[in-house]
Amino acid sequence: MFNPFFSALLLLALTQHALSQDTFDWAKINSSDTLDWTPCNTDFECARFKTPLDYKNPDAASTSIALIRLPALVPRNSSDYRGPILFNPGGPGQTGVGLILGLGPLFRTIIGPQFDLVSFDPRGVARSLPRASFFLSQAERAQFPPQISLNASQDAFGRSIANDVVRSALAGARDDGSLRFLNTESTARDMLRIVEAHGQEKLQYWGFSYGTILGSTFAAMFPDKIERMVIDGVLDAEDYYSAEYRTPFLDIDKTWKTFLDGCVAAGPTACALHEQNATAIQAKIDALERRLLIHPVPTVVNSSIPEYHTIIDYSILRLTMWNAMYTPYKSFQKLASALDDLISHGDGAALYAMSMGNSGSPPLYECPSADDPFAPVMDAGIAVACNDGKSVSADYADLRKHHEALCATSSWCDTFGIRMFCVYVSVALFVASTTVWFDLFSFY
Ligand SMILES: *[C@@H]1O[C@H](CO)[C@@H](O)[C@H](O)[C@H]1NC(C)=O
Ligand SMILES: *[C@@H]1O[C@H](CO)[C@@H](O)[C@H](O)[C@H]1NC(C)=O
Ligand SMILES: *[C@@H]1O[C@H](CO)[C@@H](O)[C@H](O)[C@H]1NC(C)=O
Ligand SMILES: *[C@@H]1O[C@H](CO)[C@@H](O)[C@H](O)[C@H]1NC(C)=O
Ligand SMILES: *[C@@H]1O[C@H](CO)[C@@H](O)[C@H](O)[C@H]1NC(C)=O
Repeated sequence: MFNPFFSALLLLALTQHALSQDTFDWAKINSSDTLDWTPCNTDFECARFKTPLDYKNPDAASTSIALIRLPALVPRNSSDYRGPILFNPGGPGQTGVGLILGLGPLFRTIIGPQFDLVSFDPRGVARSLPRASFFLSQAERAQFPPQISLNASQDAFGRSIANDVVRSALAGARDDGSLRFLNTESTARDMLRIVEAHGQEKLQYWGFSYGTILGSTFAAMFPDKIERMVIDGVLDAEDYYSAEYRTPFLDIDKTWKTFLDGCVAAGPTACALHEQNATAIQAKIDALERRLLIHPVPTVVNSSIPEYHTIIDYSILRLTMWNAMYTPYKSFQKLASALDDLISHGDGAALYAMSMGNSGSPPLYECPSADDPFAPVMDAGIAVACNDGKSVSADYADLRKHHEALCATSSWCDTFGIRMFCVYVSVALFVASTTVWFDLFSFY
């Protein structure tokens, strides 16, 4: 959502779309040790599956993992049947149920009809229990936004740390003891249970973005339990488990350059921001950034609802441009047009429509602002990433030093706050439970 790990943004966009189409009442089905599928959402089957919350203490509390499958089109007892493929959409914290609902039919076209296409909301995420949720409502969550541009103001960097300290404190205060079990190691163990419950010995898997960390972790833990595995959009596992998060920044500026060069090449009809060369386009954007730092633009969110206003500021601009880089084919032309609206007409509606803060829902202060008990929230991704990674001190100078080093690598360093999400405020919180497995990655 706000950085490469909470990502696979193309997928995110589609899964969010699909999420609104999930008509199944997940509260109605019980969790079971076996996979008891119930028809759901027309062409799909849903189940809740029980796994040990703590694999070291398997007879204590259980999880309830929400699973979905798009069934194979061949009978399971025929020789054409090729078994289940498990998917993970990335994040951490993204919903696998949403992924299969949104993209299952497309995956079937790519892979063929002989497989069951299966995914799940990992422990902590969305419909699965326990669910990571540090706030009592969306309104409370919105008061401590997980990301602003770290260059947006003089206090933006420190304000982000303060937000993250508050979030960590609330996470600790509201933890019922299950928080530390929301991690990739346990999810890998859950996957093995799911595979076995399907009657298979070995995993077939396709993971995107953070899903490549999950796949690699599974491979390190259970090397003899893999039939086939696709890791797609590979993240650097050592970088992830060290909570350094340096490598995702290496090539962002190249991606941005393709936006500028693409606009030059496309010409003025296809690219609203067009100039003779990339430098001239960047200069227009730089000027817009400088202007918004001083004078944010008031904007009507949606002209059919003229009373809904918002303000386009430097943070929204930076994060929207950064976010567009995940989906260049889908977003670059729209981005150019939205930037031109702002530059030429002072109109921020199109940029707001592309921005990450725009959920499409009514503002939180409107009634009813019902909190969907199974909606994905950032908290899940933060819980998993921060449990997985080495602990991060909330010391301003340390965080600043790390940030400056990122800024030496990329001009997009201001859009990235994941390391700060993981500041710890109590030793009990965010135990680095995967340290053991970190060692296994040293052979990469
Ligand atoms: C779920 O469990 C409850 C309590 O055991 C039971 O009353 C209910 O019928 C079960 N629901 C389903 C769909 O099996
Ligand atoms: C496969 O299962 C179906 C439905 O349970 C059954 O009707 C059919 O006879 C089975 N075919 C084989 C080859 O076992
Ligand atoms: C953000 O601030 C850092 C550190 O002060 C600086 O190096 C970087 O150039 C700034 N980036 C942008 C896009 O303004
Ligand atoms: C880029 O385009 C601008 C504006 O059209 C022009 O003034 C400038 O000389 C060009 N720069 C180069 C390096 O061609
Ligand atoms: C604007 O609001 C109308 C009325 O609620 C809605 O139908 C439409 O989808 C909205 N447009 C956008 C771009 O959100």
